[in-house]
Amino acid sequence: MLSPTVTLRESSDCQDLLVNPPASGLALKGKFSVPGDKSISHRALMLGAIATGETIVEGLLLGEDPRSTASCFQAMGAEISPLNSQRVIVKGIGLGNLQEPANVLDAGNSGTTIRLMLGLLASHPTRFFTVTGDSSLRSRPMSRVIRPLQQMGAQIWGRGDNAFAPLAIRGQQLNPIHYQSPIASAQVKSCILLAGLMAEGKTTVTEPSLSRDHSERMLQAFGARVEIEPETHSATVVGPAMLQGQKVIVPGDISSAAFWLVAACIVPGSELMIENVGINPTRTGILEVLEMMGADITLENERVATGEPVADLRVRSSQLKACTISGDIIPRLIDEIPILTVAAIYARGTTVIRDAAELRVKESDRLAVIASELNKMGAKITELPDGLEIAGGTPLTGTEVDSYTDHRIAMSLAIAALNAKGTTTIHRAEAAAISYPEFVNTLQQVCG
Ligand code: S3P
Repeated sequence: MLSPTVTLRESSDCQDLLVNPPASGLALKGKFSVPGDKSISHRALMLGAIATGETIVEGLLLGEDPRSTASCFQAMGAEISPLNSQRVIVKGIGLGNLQEPANVLDAGNSGTTIRLMLGLLASHPTRFFTVTGDSSLRSRPMSRVIRPLQQMGAQIWGRGDNAFAPLAIRGQQLNPIHYQSPIASAQVKSCILLAGLMAEGKTTVTEPSLSRDHSERMLQAFGARVEIEPETHSATVVGPAMLQGQKVIVPGDISSAAFWLVAACIVPGSELMIENVGINPTRTGILEVLEMMGADITLENERVATGEPVADLRVRSSQLKACTISGDIIPRLIDEIPILTVAAIYARGTTVIRDAAELRVKESDRLAVIASELNKMGAKITELPDGLEIAGGTPLTGTEVDSYTDHRIAMSLAIAALNAKGTTTIHRAEAAAISYPEFVNTLQQVCG
């Protein structure tokens, strides 16, 4: 039974989420954990598949995106136990041994699956692969990974002059490069480093600012030689590498915890305890910004699990104030900008977000979509070419909004609805299952 505040309505091919908070007295309470980190889950499945020996993954995210990764690598010969338990066993086939799949590889909605996998496919000599995805993924730019791979000697063809999937790849022996990436993107960096695993010598990626470093950490844990130069934001892999299967403990995803952090901040009288959240410094921009805005968040029980820092996060409601979010911090909170936009609506003053044009090429154009949907609820958000300007202190009213099939938009709108007057109906809310299948259950629990 869902609480009166949260209702799901099935229609022919999609799900509506109805959020109808009581006129007064809603306070969020609870102690729970969030599902496994999506970025780490993808990497554990991929490295497990190409390593020698067995990899045991604990806490894997059982969302749609890691399922896409698992099915692609199963189609290329890796044995992966069914994704119905958070303990998944991957029997690796050894570096260089991905088999030519009998059919097109389908990355679904997942940019991380297609871009990281491309580095591996391009470096498997003579084998032929084709890769596609859903309509959102087929409209996202692939040239950012195809160009550097071509510099390494890769043969890749795609729609729109090699810009978009479906893609065709003829694997080659690749040469190492030093790639100066024009964008701070962990997907670009990881793609090139994975391609470098089988190249002879040093493959280096230098970024304008540091993006999440889960690939570097996990490659090291699997036995690859990885060199990091923090001052220049450079990561190097030395090939040919040897990867040995490992036990990987996946922490809770801070990008999923972010929804509850903001929910507890903005709903008066709330207190939530979110256990076992990954706090890798390349991902904690959300904590820094919320603290700057006056949030009451404490980190408890800090520890390290498989090379990744973890903590329990306690958050209590507080009056937020506006801030400016731009520059080097953007890659460290890139996926949290939609939910930070919701926080900004409830802050005193005008919040400005800049340097975030990357959001236009995510699962949806997140700048345009979050502004249009929250404005339908009464927010005052102005779209900038590379960001948003959000006037705080405007009350929201429930209405019909759409996720545009983007998981982070669906969940951000649901949290905004907790403080809106009347019922908000979020169309195509099933998108949340991409990264957070239990989102609606937890929403119901904390409203309970
Ligand atoms: C990811 C990197 C980020 C992020 C995405 C996951 C990853 O994308 O937005 O959700 O796992 O490497 P970019 O590398 O395109 O910024």
